[in-house]
Amino acid sequence: MTDVQAPVVRMCSITKYFLDLGANKSIDFDLYPGEICALLGENGAGKTTLMNILFGYYACDEGEIFINGERILPSAPRDAIARGIGMIQQHFALVPSQTVLENIMIGTETGKGLFLDVKGARAKLLRLQERFGLQIDPEAKVWTLSVGEQQKVEILKALYRDVSILIMDEPTAVLAPAEISELFKTLRILVQEGRSIVFISHKLNEVMAISDRVVVLRNGRVVSLKRTAETSVRELANLMVGRDVLERLVKKKVEQGRPVLEIAGINALNDKRLKAVRDLNLTVRQSEILGLAGISGNGQKELVEILFGMRKPSSGEVRIDGVALEAGHPSSAIRLGMARIPEDRMGTGLMTDLTVEENLILEDHNSPEFRRWGVLNARKIRQFTDSLIRAFDIKTAGGDAAARSLSGGNLQKVMVARELAGRPAAIVASQPTRGLDVGAMENIHQRLLKESERGAAILLISEDLDEVFTLSDRIAVIYEGEIMGEVPAHEASREKIGLWMSGVRQ
Ligand SMILES: Nc1ncnc2c1ncn2[C@@H]1O[C@H](COP(=O)(O)OP(=O)(O)OP(=O)(O)O)[C@@H](O)[C@H]1O
Ligand SMILES: [Mg+2]
Repeated sequence: MTDVQAPVVRMCSITKYFLDLGANKSIDFDLYPGEICALLGENGAGKTTLMNILFGYYACDEGEIFINGERILPSAPRDAIARGIGMIQQHFALVPSQTVLENIMIGTETGKGLFLDVKGARAKLLRLQERFGLQIDPEAKVWTLSVGEQQKVEILKALYRDVSILIMDEPTAVLAPAEISELFKTLRILVQEGRSIVFISHKLNEVMAISDRVVVLRNGRVVSLKRTAETSVRELANLMVGRDVLERLVKKKVEQGRPVLEIAGINALNDKRLKAVRDLNLTVRQSEILGLAGISGNGQKELVEILFGMRKPSSGEVRIDGVALEAGHPSSAIRLGMARIPEDRMGTGLMTDLTVEENLILEDHNSPEFRRWGVLNARKIRQFTDSLIRAFDIKTAGGDAAARSLSGGNLQKVMVARELAGRPAAIVASQPTRGLDVGAMENIHQRLLKESERGAAILLISEDLDEVFTLSDRIAVIYEGEIMGEVPAHEASREKIGLWMSGVRQ
């Protein structure tokens, strides 16, 4: 296949330490023209760090990088971009208040004099959209877009810069199944035209479907190189985690109790003032897991914001144990005993400028357990946070490390750990395992099952049908803000749920 050609990227013996934490240890990594190379590894294995070094975000402590045979010292993303390298970050870097077109033009302004060539830029953008099938309104403000749409903007931004090497850090984590097959079509066109792609993902089926080669990292080292055609999902999972992980979870039969979380007659508008949620009624009982499946952008975002007390519905109410949530007051949801796991961990879930410890007690720093005569009890807090770090296997230098230093998957664990620590009566979990490696995903699934055995009422909002089917007692589907149908999990078939998700009622 590709080995006869010279690599476009050759990274030799790359080492990078953050204080005494070795994120990359003597890593060799090659990328060939026209290939899609998957980079796999557990949360915190060093994937993002390695690619950040290639892209010039970080300097490595040791090692050399060659692009098309020429030794380079990338010291800023600007140099990398000039050499045709594009990177789509795990957490997007768009300016929310600006339009799609403005975001794409940032940093490429080749205007005539003081005036930007907006017309030329728009024409070029439209041509790219046409060619790669990435439809999106150039004039839409980025803050009004769903995460999936924002990613399209990121891809267009890279194509606009005419990259020959594209790094994609978990590009499918935020996409719906149909969007993923669209993305794969786009990626295939890109490599057919001779570009090369580094594809980071925790979804092993996708890695099998799209990549030519797989490089597996563990604890900052390369542990394996495979041709995709010569490996399997099971083997890749074992290589990543170092143990067998794809065991099936056992869901115990638990008696369901009284209704705990009641969503009654909710109607709501989205940020564009369009109807996003219509006459929505759902009830979740004690010890029940209700899976709400649906393709993202069908009202889930608005529904979750209402449940979290962050958005006012135009009518209807949410009750927890019979008490109505005060619309528009997030503190009311917390007071009523709701654990909130948002899909957007960087935006609403965590404060990345604070430490891991501060994030873990963010919502209960006023609780009597941690305060005495108004003073925070540091020892108590440390004990509490250390136990969470251990229980959830959060990879961090310690409780006082800045949250922003954690890998994406470990940030997610911080949020889930915090929310589940307080023995909540109800749990609203939106895409709780997005971005987690197979081992960590299994851990969170176990925890949610345990919480339901303890008595929590759980609303699980997820696009991942495997997740929905594994955990749920009952499955409902949301489509264009409406509930298409609801069925006990043991009576549900994938075909039926899939049809409901695409708006077909039988
Ligand atoms: N800026 C930083 N400061 C301190 N430590 C960091 C920094 N960036 C990364 N690390 C640490 O380096 C290790 C590797 O992180 P990296 O983000 O590369 O992991 P990853 O393989 O991308 O994981 P994930 O799948 O969770 O995204 C982690 O332990 C992380 O905490
Ligand atoms: Mg990462």
